[in-house]
Amino acid sequence: MEMDTLAALCKRRGFLFSSSEIYGGLNGFWDYGPLGVELKRNIREAWWRDMVTSHNELEPPPGAPSAYAMVGLDSTIIMHPQVWKCSGHYDLFCDLMVDCRESKRRYRYDQVYGRWVEYQGRKIFAATEAMGQEAEQDTLQKALRFFNLRNKDADELQWLGPIEPLSHVQNMEQVLGPDAKTLGTLTPPRMFNLMFETYIGPLQDEASKSFLRPETAQGIFVNFKNVLDSSRVKIPFGIAQIGKSFRNEITPRYFTFRSREFEQMEIEFFCHPSVSRAWYEYWRNRRFQWYIGLGLSSERLRLREHSPEELSHYSCGTADIEYAFPFLPPGEFGELEGIAHRGDFDLRSHMEGKLVRQGDQLVVELDEEGKPRYRGSGRDLTYFDEETREKYIPHVVEPSAGADRAALAFLCEAYAEDEAPDEHGKPQKRVVLRLHPRLAPIKAAVFPLVRKDGMPEIAREIYAQLKPRWNVFYDEKGAVGRRYRRQDEIGTPYCITVDGQTLQDGTVTIRDRDTLRQWRVHQKEIAAQLEDLLC
Ligand code: GAP
Repeated sequence: MEMDTLAALCKRRGFLFSSSEIYGGLNGFWDYGPLGVELKRNIREAWWRDMVTSHNELEPPPGAPSAYAMVGLDSTIIMHPQVWKCSGHYDLFCDLMVDCRESKRRYRYDQVYGRWVEYQGRKIFAATEAMGQEAEQDTLQKALRFFNLRNKDADELQWLGPIEPLSHVQNMEQVLGPDAKTLGTLTPPRMFNLMFETYIGPLQDEASKSFLRPETAQGIFVNFKNVLDSSRVKIPFGIAQIGKSFRNEITPRYFTFRSREFEQMEIEFFCHPSVSRAWYEYWRNRRFQWYIGLGLSSERLRLREHSPEELSHYSCGTADIEYAFPFLPPGEFGELEGIAHRGDFDLRSHMEGKLVRQGDQLVVELDEEGKPRYRGSGRDLTYFDEETREKYIPHVVEPSAGADRAALAFLCEAYAEDEAPDEHGKPQKRVVLRLHPRLAPIKAAVFPLVRKDGMPEIAREIYAQLKPRWNVFYDEKGAVGRRYRRQDEIGTPYCITVDGQTLQDGTVTIRDRDTLRQWRVHQKEIAAQLEDLLC
C-alpha cells in the first residue's frame, strides 16, 4: 500500500486533515476529523482501560513479579521552568541541525545521507534526506544534474563508497545539499533545542519564560509524593497519564509520524530497586502484546532491545516497540513506544538538582562556584516501606507510547484492497479498513434494504435502540452494496440490514466486514450479539 493512498482516504473520509489547511496548512500539525477523533479516542480508551481502570490490583497479572496498583493523573502542559532544567531537557533536549544557505531549508544532521561521486576528477558528496534505495536514486539524479549529464551518461560517474551519513564528511565545502544546486551551502551542525518556548504573564522576559512540555512524564514525577500521600498506594505502583506533548521537530515528516504537537500515553511505574529489572521485562512484554491484541501483525511489529552502548547511563534496559511503516524503506522500522528502565534518575533530579555522570556515579551538576547548576525542589521524594522499615528512592520503569503513531500504525495495518460481491452477487473491488472492533470509529451501520414497505421505520427503531450504547450509523441512501462498501472503507465491522423477511419474522441480517458472512438474528437479539462481537 502506498502512503499517498492511505493519506487520500484519511482526508476523503474525515480521519485526518492538515492543520489550518485553508491557509495552506502548518507543517507538523494535524487535525483529526469526525472519524479520526473516534479512532484516536478508542485507542486512548483501550489503553486507559487495559492499563488503568480494568487492572486488578489484588492479583499479579501473568508474568508480573507481584500484584500492583495503577492510578491516573492529568497534569498541566506548562509547568515550572525548573522542571525542565532538572530533568535535563533545558540543556540536552536538542538535535543537531544544518541549514542550507541556498534552499533556506533546515535538516536534521543525523537524517542527511549521501554518496561520494567523482566525474572528471571532481569529487562531491551528493546529499539526500532519505536512506536506502530511494537515496541511491536521489543521489544519482542529483549528481547527473550537477555535472550536467544525461541519464544515459550515468556510467561515466565514479561512485566512491556506499551511502553514508553526512556526519562522516569532514569538508562541508564538497557537499551538495539535499535541495541545493551549488556546492558547500550547508552550514556546520548546530544544536537546536526542541522545546517550544512561551511566556507566563504579561512580561516577556527571561524570568517569565516557560516551555510547552515535550513529554507528559515529568508531570508524573513531580506529582509522585502527591499521589502517594493522597491515594494510599504502596510500591509497586504505576501512574498513568495521557496528554498532548510538543516538540519543535526540525523535520516533521511521514504524515503524523513525526509531528510538532502529538499525544503521549505514558506510565511511570515505581518499584524497589532490587526488582526493577523484572518489572522492566514485565512491562516490555505486556506492552508488546497490547499492540498484537489490537491487531498489529507480529510480522511488521518488533521488539528491539537497545544495545548497552545505546542505553542512557542510568538505565539497565530499554526496548523499543517498532512497526514497519509502509513509508519507510524496506527493512526499516519506526518507533511506536519506548520502554525504559530509568533507575532513580528522575526522582533524584527533582529532589537534588540536575544530575550528571561522573565515572559510574550520578552526581549533582555544579556551576563554577561549586553550587548546584540547577537546584532541585529540595522536597523529600523517597519512599518509606512501613513493613520493612526501609527508606529508598524508587526505581522507575517507563512505558511511553505515542497515540498518534499508534493510530497511524493501526490505519496502515488495517488498509486492504480486495473484492466483495455486490447486491447482484457480482464481485466488486473494495477498499476495507480491517480495524479491530474496539478501535473502529463506527461499530455498526443500520440499513433498510429499500426505502419503502416500512423498512426505514424498523431500521430507525433499531438504530435508536443501539445508539445510546454504541456509535452506530444509519444510512438509507443508494444501493445497499454501495452502502456496505462505504462502511468497509471506514472500518465499520458490522452492517445490520432490514429486508423483506424482517417484515415477516422480525429477523435482520448481520454482515461481517472481514469474512463477508451474513447471518440472521431476531431484532430483539441484535444488542446481545453486538455485545459479544465488539468486545
Ligand atoms: N518520556 C519518554 C519519552 O517521551 P520518547 O521516545 O521521546 O520518550 C515516546 O517519546 C513516544 O512518543 C514515542 O515512542 C512516539 O510514539 C511518541 N513521539 C515522540 N515524538 C513524537 C513526534 N514528534 N510525533 C509523534 N509522536 C512522537
